[in-house]
Amino acid sequence: MNILVVGSGGREHALCWKLRQSPLTEKLYCAPGNAGIADVAECVNIGVEDGDKLVEFAKANDIAFAVVGPEAPLCAGVGDKLRAAGLRVFGPNAEGAQLEGSKDFAKRFMNKYNIPTARSATFTDAASAKEYINKEFAAGAEGIVVKADGLAAGKGVLVADSAGSANAFVDECFGGAFGASGATVLIEECLFGEEASILALTDGKTIVPLVTSQDHKRIYDDDQGPNTGGMGAYSPAPVVNDKVMEQIKTEILDRFLAGIQAENIFYRGVIFVGIMVTGGVAKVLEFNVRFGDPEIQPVVRRFDGDWADALYKTADGRLAEADLVWSEDPAVSVVIAAGGYPGSYRKGDVITGLADAAEAGAVVFHAGTAFKDGAVVSAGGRVLGVSARGKTIQDAIANAYKGVEKIHFDDCFSRKDIGAKALKYLK
Ligand code: AMP
Ligand code: GLY
Repeated sequence: MNILVVGSGGREHALCWKLRQSPLTEKLYCAPGNAGIADVAECVNIGVEDGDKLVEFAKANDIAFAVVGPEAPLCAGVGDKLRAAGLRVFGPNAEGAQLEGSKDFAKRFMNKYNIPTARSATFTDAASAKEYINKEFAAGAEGIVVKADGLAAGKGVLVADSAGSANAFVDECFGGAFGASGATVLIEECLFGEEASILALTDGKTIVPLVTSQDHKRIYDDDQGPNTGGMGAYSPAPVVNDKVMEQIKTEILDRFLAGIQAENIFYRGVIFVGIMVTGGVAKVLEFNVRFGDPEIQPVVRRFDGDWADALYKTADGRLAEADLVWSEDPAVSVVIAAGGYPGSYRKGDVITGLADAAEAGAVVFHAGTAFKDGAVVSAGGRVLGVSARGKTIQDAIANAYKGVEKIHFDDCFSRKDIGAKALKYLK
C-alpha cells in the first residue's frame, strides 16, 4: 500500500525508516519531511496543518494509510479530515488529541477515571493562581509546577522551587507569553523521582505498551539547565521494572482505555504517557497523543516486527491481530543540537560525517535538516539523533557515541551522559 507520513522531525524520520522496511509499504511519502527523510521517502511540500491539500494529495496518489506524526495537526483535526476522505489514519480524533492539547482536559479525564497523577488546580486569572501558590508554599510544599493549559511547544511548563519564580511564570502565562495557550493555567503538586516514557498503541478496544524508554529533558549533563524537547533517549528504562509495569497497565493504561470508551472518543494511534516513578509507584505527568521524540528512535531500533502492519492494524481497529516483536538488545539515541538551543539557535551550517557515522554502525535520524546547494545543513534546534543498538546498555551507549564523534557542524553539541541513568540498575 501507499503510505503518507505527516511531519518533519526525528520522530517522522524514525517512523519512515521503519515503515520503509516493511514488505507492505509500496510508495512512502512524507509531508513535508526533511533532508534525511528524503533517503527513505518521497518528500512532499505540504504543511502539516494543511488538511485540504493533504487530502487532495492522498486522493491523487492512491494513499490508503496516513500516519500523523505531531500533535498540532491532530489537535487541528487533520487526522479527521484524512479519515473522512476514506483513508485509514494512525492518530486520534481532534477530541482525543485534547488529552495533549489541553492539560486541564487531561487532568479532568485522569481524575474522572481514577488515573494516578499529581494533585492540581486550574485557574483563569493570575490573582487566584498566585494566592494558591503562596498557600501551597506556606503549607510546606518543596516545589510547585505551573503549566500553561494549551500547546506551547514544550515551553509552557515551569518546575519552580520558590513562590517568587512560580508567580512570575503565572504572570508570563496570563501576560500572553504563550498566546491563548496561557489563558488557563494549572498549578500542580511537584512530584519527585525518576521519569520514564510509556508509549502504548491503542485502537480503542485493545491497548498494548511498546518497550519502555527514558528521555533526557534538560539541556546539560546531569540534568542541569533548562528543559528541551529531549536531548537523547534509551530503551528499555530499568526504572520501570515488572512490578511498576504491572501497576502502569492496571492503573493507567486500562483506565485510559476505559475512559476513552466511556467518553466515546475515537482513538486509534499511540498514547504516550509521561510518568514519574516515586518509590516504585508511577503517576502521570502528562499525556501526549503522538510518539515521543527522541523516545521513538531507540524504540523503533528495537522493533524487529512489521511496523507498517502494526500501525495499519491499529488504525484499522485490529490491533489485537498485530504481532509486536522486540529485540532484547538495548538501544540509545543521542541528539546533536545547534549552538544556542533551546534558546535561539544557528541554522544553515553544513553537516559533515553522516556517511562515516553510518559506516560506524549508527543510524542517524534527522530532526532539523534541509538541503542547501546540494549539501545537508542544520535547520532546527535539535538537528540529528544518532542511534545504535548493543548487546548491553553500555555497548549501545558506546556505539551511539562512536557515531556522534564522526559528525560535525559549527557550534554543534550533545549531552555526554545519555543512558547513564540505566547503569545504576546493573547488578
Ligand atoms: P509536561 O509538558 O506536563 O510533561 O511537563 C514537562 C516536564 O515538566 C516533565 O517532563 C517533567 O520533567 C516536568 N513536570 C511536569 N509536571 C511535573 C510534576 N507534577 N512534578 C514534577 N515535574 C513535573
Ligand atoms: N521527548 C518528549 C516529547 O516528545 O514530548
